Amino acid sequence: MSLSGGVLAVTLVGTITAGIVAIASVVAIYKCAKVAVKVYLQGDGGSLHRVASAVTREPGSSGAAAGESDDAEMGSMSYFIEDLQRERPVRFSSQQLRAFTRNYAHKVGSGGFGVVYKGRFPNGAPVAVKVLNSTLGKRAEEQFMAEVGTIGRTYHINLVRLYGFCFDAAVKALVYEYMENGSLDGYLFDPPPERKVAFDKLHEIAVGTAKALRYLHEECAQRIIHYDIKPENVLLGAGLAPKVSDFGLARLCDREDTHLTITGARGTPGYAAPELWMPLPVTHKCDVYSYGMLLFEMLGRRRNLELGLHGRESQEWYPRWVWHRFEAGDVDAVLARAVATGDKKERETAERVCKVALWCVQYRPEDRPSMGSVVRMLEGEDQIATPLNPFAHLAAYNSGAALPSGDTTTTSGSYGSSGHALSAR
Ligand SMILES: *[C@@H]1O[C@H](CO)[C@@H](O)[C@H](O)[C@H]1NC(C)=O
Ligand SMILES: *[C@@H]1O[C@H](CO)[C@@H](O)[C@H](O)[C@H]1NC(C)=O
Repeated sequence: MSLSGGVLAVTLVGTITAGIVAIASVVAIYKCAKVAVKVYLQGDGGSLHRVASAVTREPGSSGAAAGESDDAEMGSMSYFIEDLQRERPVRFSSQQLRAFTRNYAHKVGSGGFGVVYKGRFPNGAPVAVKVLNSTLGKRAEEQFMAEVGTIGRTYHINLVRLYGFCFDAAVKALVYEYMENGSLDGYLFDPPPERKVAFDKLHEIAVGTAKALRYLHEECAQRIIHYDIKPENVLLGAGLAPKVSDFGLARLCDREDTHLTITGARGTPGYAAPELWMPLPVTHKCDVYSYGMLLFEMLGRRRNLELGLHGRESQEWYPRWVWHRFEAGDVDAVLARAVATGDKKERETAERVCKVALWCVQYRPEDRPSMGSVVRMLEGEDQIATPLNPFAHLAAYNSGAALPSGDTTTTSGSYGSSGHALSAR
């Protein structure tokens, strides 16, 4: 009796110890993975290889690794389909990318960081393959790591899906879902007639974009700051459903650790928040500012500052013009640009967008709303308080005066708010 009790106890202790060891190992592996991600996000280019392989070695992920021979193709294909179902980015070989894009036959766009090609998976699903420009060296690698390390860990209806990536000596590329209707700028700035959309549609796009940012800021395990919200990075799928893309500047941060240290100017002039151009602490509220700039461009269906055009109106910085019309009680002047029809509901929607835009671009980050609050205000769930003047820190407004054109003497922030914020100091 006591003997078998002792055996039982020994067995139990053994089992429990094994369990603890197993749990401790899993925790240790998880922590290592987290540390690796942190290290590479701090720009340690040397850790890139390690991290790229760590991503494919995540628990449960299968090894559709690069460099597998062609006769292993079917095997890796079925692995990657399993992985797609698990919603994890897959590692592709450069041979697979060549097959998907039919040897890079169909170029659909290009930018500073590389060229985007249209392709298809063997099952017919269209994909966009962004091949990073290898002559950029470390910067291309940084962008690669930022994308895989942020968007690669997310899933949201309003975020573009990263299906996978290729990381080998010759090719660094990202494989995304293909968005058939291009980017939002094509619908805002002098669009052809078939791309002129009603304001209600723009409002839907605004809400979807805000939900994506709310998810990144408030709902992910680690907060993700995008840093480059602008119309070019809002892609449109079927039915113009919006998806935020381009996580090349994005960063992970702990939610408690709210202030990030940013070295060098970031984001795009005209959309980047003033604190990004100054030695001030940066938080996720810089995305809220850029989002506000995007809302102004939806309201005006024009760039906030149109450079290179002559004539007074085009020189006016649009957000400031909106504030002065708003302050003067002349919201109608703002709505006239946004809403073509006299539809009352649509005008109310546009007025909400106008107030939210003014809140989002408040000079002090703490005065800007959270993206969760932005969604509720845009959807009419929350009342919107009367916005404060976002531009009070700027020099006194000389009503009707044009802005100095191409304020080229200031630093890189010479376009839009940032330049003025700088010159106001
Ligand atoms: C890569 O970047 C270099 C330097 O910025 C540029 O000259 C070149 O045209 C780019 N190549 C591609 C394919 O975009
Ligand atoms: C979206 O793209 C599809 C496919 O290219 C096209 O048929 C449709 O007209 C586009 N919609 C708009 C509003 O541009």
